[in-house]
Amino acid sequence: MIYSADDRCPLDDGNSIPGIGLGTFSSDKLVKGDVVEAVKAGIEIGYRHLDGALMYGNEDEVGEAIRAKIADGTVKREDIFYTSKLWMTYLSPNMVRKALEKTLKSLQLDYVDLYLMHWPMALKPSEEEIFPRDANGKLLLDDVDFCETWAAMECCKEVGLVRSIGVSNFNHRQLEMVLKMPNLKYKPVCNQVECHPYLNQSKLLKFCKSKNIVLVGYSPLGTPRNPKYLNTSIPPLLNDPVLKKLGEKHHKTAAQVVLRYQVQRGVVVVPKSFNPGRMKQNREQTLPHASSTLDILPVWVWTVSVGSIFG
Ligand code: A2P
Repeated sequence: MIYSADDRCPLDDGNSIPGIGLGTFSSDKLVKGDVVEAVKAGIEIGYRHLDGALMYGNEDEVGEAIRAKIADGTVKREDIFYTSKLWMTYLSPNMVRKALEKTLKSLQLDYVDLYLMHWPMALKPSEEEIFPRDANGKLLLDDVDFCETWAAMECCKEVGLVRSIGVSNFNHRQLEMVLKMPNLKYKPVCNQVECHPYLNQSKLLKFCKSKNIVLVGYSPLGTPRNPKYLNTSIPPLLNDPVLKKLGEKHHKTAAQVVLRYQVQRGVVVVPKSFNPGRMKQNREQTLPHASSTLDILPVWVWTVSVGSIFG
């Protein structure tokens, strides 16, 4: 059970993950160096779990911040839990190690703590383009069996480039396909999915718990409110009157209430913030039991469709 930001949640392979991490996906509005400063501030505030990805395009900055905080004695490498993700253009088994090595080169680190298959679908292999498209702008897909990708990720764990391996954006059927692989060596330790009270993933959470797979929730504050993926007529989660009322009762912000809700139901969270005050606030969310109240919030049809995200 996670009670505070520093509690660690055990993983199926014997490792463990800190219950609250700092998301590092950054908007285009940030200028070079902002991510370095934000991650350094996050580590100073106490974050030991940092959630990144090759696709975010900023692992060089995240690595620079981690190395700076190791160099100044704030942390040791083993204190930091860094997650990276295998992008969709690298799902062919022969590309997997290449992608991980690219991440390690950007970070200038020897290993990552957790490596996730970012999505279960493959795009045309490419080391240059994140979203390869044809001349008409149509996204180019590839036909890769993600179980074969998984086997290549298992090899990366065996050679010590990564401590734990997991998946992201998998539904329960896709998870079962991996779990039923005839030569499976390692189960996915986690499944990272969008998770917050308007998309509480209760069925998937139950399934993951039954298989000892940790559910890691991204966008736990209900953002980004990008019209590309979201029906923006849905009210912002943090303005929900139930959350506001609960927050007032316990002298906490709505953000702290939703993060506490996840921690109590055993979901590891990776809220994003580039503001030190809010980063600090997000780690300080201890509150009396709130989950039974929040499970009654409506579950909105949140994302429009995967096609609209990648189309
Ligand atoms: P900022 O970086 O200015 O703090 P999510 O992790 O659900 O995707 O949410 C990320 C967004 O939520 C970012 O825009 C971030 O902005 C904002 N945010 C982070 N922490 C808080 C908080 N405690 N209260 C309100 N907004 C927050």
